[in-house]
Amino acid sequence: MSAKTLVAVVMGSKSDWEVMQNTSSTLTELGIEHEVRVTSAHRTPDATIDYASKLQERGVEVVIAAAGGAAHLAGVMSAKTQLPVLGVPLVAGALNGLDALLATVQMPAGIPVGTFAIGKPGAVNAALFAAAILSNKHPQIQSALARYRKAQTEKVAAIGDPRNA
Ligand code: RP5
Repeated sequence: MSAKTLVAVVMGSKSDWEVMQNTSSTLTELGIEHEVRVTSAHRTPDATIDYASKLQERGVEVVIAAAGGAAHLAGVMSAKTQLPVLGVPLVAGALNGLDALLATVQMPAGIPVGTFAIGKPGAVNAALFAAAILSNKHPQIQSALARYRKAQTEKVAAIGDPRNA
């Protein structure tokens, strides 16, 4: 029997994968089962709504949604599920991600999106935040997150003089 999918990672375009593979690899590093899909709030709205509305009954516990430009994907996902939705704004086009950041973060009261930094830092941190949420219920994820933090601390501590690193 395959392990249950706990996190759904969605992005508005295949072009988002280059950054969002950092979310997937971080979840994998923490041993968190996840699925990854391309679905667009604008180009495939019906499919996006259908996908979002079935996540909870499928046993998924956290959603990570990334998009660039007029980034409505995380907000639309949150509109159709009560699961926590973590939004990652991405760089796409002339405004270097500021457009996506504002579109993702400026949700009206009543439909929340937890919004992360633009690009790779946000992609990694959304995975770590998902792990923190899941840690409340899944002790093995809590342990994996503790190991991740410890390894990170040790790696920085081992640098010493950066001219020699
Ligand atoms: C958004 O538009 C996507 O999330 C992507 O960041 C951006 C550009 O998409 P493509 O034109 O590269 O498919 O919907």
